[in-house]
Amino acid sequence: MIVDSYNRTHDYLRISLTDVCNLRCTYCMPDEHYAFMQSERLMQPKEIATIAATFVSMGVRRIRLTGGEPLARPDFHEILQRLSVLPVTITLTTNGTLLHRHLDQLINAGVTSLNISLDTLSQDKFRLLTRRDQFTQIMRNILTAVEKGLQVKLNVVVMKGVNEEEILDFIAWTKHSPIDVRFIEFMPFDGNKWSGEQVVSEKEILDLIGSKYSFQAVHRPLQSTSNPYIIPGHAGSFAIISTMSSPFCAGCNRMRLTADGRMKNCLFSKGETDLLSALREGRELKPLIEQNVFGKAEKLGGQFEENSFRELNGEDLINRSMISIGG
Ligand code: GTP
Ligand code: 5AD
Ligand code: SF4
Repeated sequence: MIVDSYNRTHDYLRISLTDVCNLRCTYCMPDEHYAFMQSERLMQPKEIATIAATFVSMGVRRIRLTGGEPLARPDFHEILQRLSVLPVTITLTTNGTLLHRHLDQLINAGVTSLNISLDTLSQDKFRLLTRRDQFTQIMRNILTAVEKGLQVKLNVVVMKGVNEEEILDFIAWTKHSPIDVRFIEFMPFDGNKWSGEQVVSEKEILDLIGSKYSFQAVHRPLQSTSNPYIIPGHAGSFAIISTMSSPFCAGCNRMRLTADGRMKNCLFSKGETDLLSALREGRELKPLIEQNVFGKAEKLGGQFEENSFRELNGEDLINRSMISIGG
């Protein structure tokens, strides 16, 4: 078991397969022309499998593949095959653009649930937000994934003046479709021009939904990122990921591996442990992993003070950009 100094057991590993993405979401990537990692710095399929197997031998029971866009990796198939022999649940967070090429393979490998990023239901706004024109393909892929019986969670990053007025449209979608829409409070990362004024808080989101629907809160598992709600009569559900206004650090069970093989014990942690170099140099990984988790801070999420979001200064923002952490 991997336990930190606050007695939190860590059994969930998020592995970023690449920082490459075929979209350019403004809240995630600083520039249109972002310098992606050199390919020799990326973990290779065998290295990913070896590092993952070490985590599994230490008690990890769940692996989420992220990116960038994980499906943009040309050797995704081989990586999935190598990981699918491990005794873990494998899930994926994807932008959905390439799903049509991989859906059957994912299902055959035992994947039953997908988290798909989609911040708007308007094709024009999608083009503005992602700087690419892939809306129709993504929508088609989401519908196919639902039809094929996968549990689909939609990740909607809500930003003031950008997409907050679409919240009710997303809720309307859950009436007949068994999707779970998760509204995410906008978080600060290197280069994403975050400002507290752009965050739409959980309370604001619930007030808006409550103006049209009556909803009920349901039990939130301690280790979940999202506060779940149901609307009676709806086939789907919704949830709020309230990292900024009410962080869920108390039950955190997560560790992260960046695509260049650095371990982070928190989305917002500044320290990293270079597991890939250790592996390549033949050093033991287990003590490094234990040490990394033992140094985990009690709480790094949440900047909500006296009813407003504290503006963050340069120090606070020293981190990677979201695209190179992996979400
Ligand atoms: P489930 O396991 O299906 O609940 O997925 P998830 O919410 O853990 O992962 P996903 O990749 O779909 O991420 C959704 C949002 O939660 C993104 O905005 C992530 O950045 C955020 N998130 C995921 N893990 C953490 C975490 O450890 N801390 C914080 N603060 N946010 C996180
Ligand atoms: N704030 C909140 N969520 C974000 N994501 C990417 N950038 C941010 C941000 N700045 C979400 C994406 C993706 C998930 C991994 O993280 O929507 O679904
Ligand atoms: Fe790509 Fe996801 Fe980042 Fe958008 S949020 S640029 S889809 S990695």
